[in-house]
This record gives sequence, C-alpha cells and structure tokens, in this order.
Amino acid sequence: MNLFNSNRPTTSKPWPNKKPPHRSPFLSLPFFTFIFFLLFFLVYFSFSPSSLLSVTSKTSTFRSRQCTSRAPIPGEKFLWYAPHSGFSNQLSEFKNAILMAAILNRTLIVPPILDHHAVALGSCPKFRVLGPNEIRIAVWDHVVELIRSGRYVSMADIIDISSLISSSFVRAIDFRVFASLWCNLNIDVTCLNELDTQSSLLDSLKQCGSLLSGPDGSLEKCLYTVNEDCRTTVWTYKNGNKDGALDSFQPDVQLKKKKKISYVRRRRDVYQSLGPGSEAESATVLAFGTLFTSPYKGSELYIDIHEAPRDPRIQNLIEKLELLPFVPEIMSAGKNFAQETIKAPFLCAQLRLLDGQFKNHWKTTFVGLKQKLETFQQSARPINIFVMTDLPEGNWTGSYLEDLAGDSNRFKLYLLKERDEWVIQTAKRLVEASHGLGFGFVREALGGSGKNKKCVPPLLPDVLLYMEEAVCSCASLGFVGTPGSTIAESIELMRKYDVCSKSKSD
Ligand SMILES: *[C@@H]1O[C@H](CO)[C@@H](O)[C@H](O)[C@H]1NC(C)=O
Ligand SMILES: *[C@@H]1O[C@H](CO)[C@@H](O)[C@H](O)[C@H]1NC(C)=O
Repeated sequence: MNLFNSNRPTTSKPWPNKKPPHRSPFLSLPFFTFIFFLLFFLVYFSFSPSSLLSVTSKTSTFRSRQCTSRAPIPGEKFLWYAPHSGFSNQLSEFKNAILMAAILNRTLIVPPILDHHAVALGSCPKFRVLGPNEIRIAVWDHVVELIRSGRYVSMADIIDISSLISSSFVRAIDFRVFASLWCNLNIDVTCLNELDTQSSLLDSLKQCGSLLSGPDGSLEKCLYTVNEDCRTTVWTYKNGNKDGALDSFQPDVQLKKKKKISYVRRRRDVYQSLGPGSEAESATVLAFGTLFTSPYKGSELYIDIHEAPRDPRIQNLIEKLELLPFVPEIMSAGKNFAQETIKAPFLCAQLRLLDGQFKNHWKTTFVGLKQKLETFQQSARPINIFVMTDLPEGNWTGSYLEDLAGDSNRFKLYLLKERDEWVIQTAKRLVEASHGLGFGFVREALGGSGKNKKCVPPLLPDVLLYMEEAVCSCASLGFVGTPGSTIAESIELMRKYDVCSKSKSD
C-alpha cells in the first residue's frame, strides 16, 4: 500500500470560507433564475414517477431514518477515534479524546485497550502515517477480534474516569453498548464471550464497521469522518491566533523532493472546524483518526491544546487530565504488594530492554540504576529492589540484572509475574467490577438491565503492567526508569501526585 498517494476525498473544507456580505436574495436576478428552474424541475419530475428527485429523496430519507433509529440516545452526539500502539500511547490518546469530547460537547465512546502495537500509526515527522480511514478500519477489525477472542477490556476498566463523569466534565458510553445499539445487534454486552459461537453476529459487527469507521467517508447526519491528520493539521482551541495559520513545523525541502509530498500543516481551531455551525456538528457520530500528539521541534504533531484561559471549564479539565489514575482495585493491589510482600522501604527499577528502540540501549538503561545504587550506604541489611522489566528472568544471564540477583548480601529483588496469585486475584476483581460498563448511559440504553448479569470471560485481562506501575508509585526509596520510556513517565507522574499514599489498601 502506498501511503503517499492517498488522494483521499476531503469531506470538509480546509477551513471555513468567509461568508459573503448579506444581501436580500429577493433583489437578485440569480435568485429568480434559481426559483424558475426549481419550479420547472418540480413540475417536470412530478410527471415521471421513477424520477431522479424521488430516488435521491428516498435514499436520503432511508439514510437519515436509519441514523435516527440507530441513535442510541435520541439527540445525543458521539465522538469516536482510533487508538493505537502501546498502552501508554493509548492512554495519552484517551486523554486527548476526553478533551475533544468536552470541547465539542459530545459523548465519548470509550474504546477497549488494544493489544500492544496491534495497530501502528507510523511516523508523523516523516509524514509517513496511516490515513484516518485506514487506521479507523484497522482499529475496528482489531476490536472485533478482541470481542471474538474474549479478551475485551475497556479503557475505563483500568483507568478511573468516574470523577470526570460524576463532575460532568464529560459524558461517556462503553463501545460495546454503543455498537450494540448503533449496529442494531442484539449483543448481550455483559456476556460477550458467547459471541464466539455466534459468528454471524460478528460478521454483522464487522460490516457495521463502515458505519463508524467510514471507509466510504461521511454519511449525511449519521457520521462525520475527520480526514485531517498530523500531515495537514494541528488542532488548537480558542488560543487567540488566526485560524488556518501555518504551523512552525513543515516538511522540509529535502523531504518534499525525495518523497514527492505536498503537505502543508495548518493550525486550526477544533471548535470552529468541528463544533457549532460546522458541517460536522449535525452528525450523530464524529470519528477522528488517531488522537496521538507529541511535542516536536517547538510545535506539536497534532494537538496543541495545553491551556484554555478563555474557557475555565476546559482549563480545569486540562489540569485534571494530567493524571488519570488507575481504578482503585489496581492501586490497592499495588499498595498491598508493597506492604505485605516487600514489607520494607524499596526502590523501583523499571528496565525496558526488549521493545523496539530499547533493545540497543542496555548500557544506558543500566547506568542510571548503577549510579542510584551507589548512592546507598553499605548497610547490614540488603536493599530491596522491585524490578519491572520485559526481559524474562531466564534471559538475565550476562546482564547487570544477573549481577544484582547474584549479590544477595547487598540486594533483595522482587518481581511480579503474570501467573502470580496477586496478579490473578486483581484481574478477577477487575472483571467483577467491570467499571467500563458501570457509567454513563448504560442503564438507560439497556433499559435498566445494566450490570446485573454476571459472566466470567474465558480469559482474564492482563493486568501485570498496571500493577507494576502501581507498585512503583509506592517505592519509598526512589524510582529509576528507562530513559525515553513512556511507562517511566507515567510512573513519575503517579509519584509526583503521590497517588500511592492517597489510595486505599485492603
Ligand atoms: C451539550 O449537550 C447536551 C446533551 O446533548 C445538551 O443538553 C447541552 O445543552 C449541550 N450544551 C451546550 C453548551 O451546547
Ligand atoms: C531468551 O531465552 C530464550 C530461551 O533460552 C531464547 O530463545 C531467547 O532468544 C532469549 N531472548 C533474548 C532476548 O535473549
């Protein structure tokens, strides 16, 4: 697939045209000409039954009727987007999605957690990314796969957004609930694993992907697909600058020549482009592609909304979004592990050694830990270290980790593993809690049958990473992370906000 020849049809204009100065239409000649032709057409076509007019009006009523009957909650507008890459990335997109939903006053459709790198975006700085349509379709297919294999875990099962919802910062609906209604499928959302045997339902769900992913682009009043991405657009919000101004980061001459690209990046106000008065506003569902952004060369790759001084509500939300905590089950599991298993002050070492770029930087990764350990005075008791690493214990041979593990006079190492009882119990408690289905419109949408039915999914969610982060947030002797790792950033943030001491243990 050649990603550069994406002659995607844009469904929206790059930025709104200026309205011409108002003039009374009754005085203009073109207006009379228009009326004349309109009358002519009406008279003409009313005599021919299978006329063009009746056909188009039939399809459009069909579509809008379809849309009205699909609308999960009448009058409610929704926002969907395409999460991708690893968990930390998905979390930062989730925060951006909450922000966009609040700005555009839409109900956020909360996605599941995708498998690590099941869907990848590509590189924004190199202007080599999956287009919004392509990534939406890839996400939809993967989500159907998660449902089929019984591995569906909602973002809201793991990340606690209850306080944002209860304080009305944002409205949210679970993807499964939304999709059941939108696709007119009778999915019992709390017992999704039974779908395994009902593959026709899955087929319908796959087909329904077009109603949310929009491979054919927007559907009038139903779906508006955002076709802008980081190659063309940096979203802003009420920042006082001119809408449509050029961003400071543009493809350089070399890149333009070498890759034959013609992108121009403009800064656009998301409220003006997609909010009230825009074409997007009337659509029941607004579907973004990726909502990934990252600072780059003095600008942002896709979303540059770090403050909103002109909108106190959004400003307040931005501050709240800096740290979205894990759900209480995960935090208390981490705290319990620290208190009941380690039972003493400890250091957390987060060592990312296998994934992508980190494979080649073992030396740098270990230097930080070595330096930190040198700062501890020699004492009678060994230093407790909680090690969180993707390198399996069987592969430690020859690395600094082997040295640490061998020096039991000085160091005592602790690890969590997927099959540990702690981890399994936490996964079970999360399934029991199923926070993702517990908020928003679920009860209304399902006619009150919400969370009553209990099903045990065939596979327990993989909660190891979240638990490890929670343990590290409780490490009182300090934290050493892998430079450049988003997991390390997320742990630093939890430590900054002191979430450990604020969470309950039980
Ligand atoms: C936001 O949407 C809700 C529900 O659709 C509506 O009741 C409310 O009036 C909207 N608020 C604004 C400021 O448009
Ligand atoms: C880890 O150990 C296994 C089994 O000994 C081996 O197959 C694998 O290649 C090792 N991985 C790394 C990254 O060293």
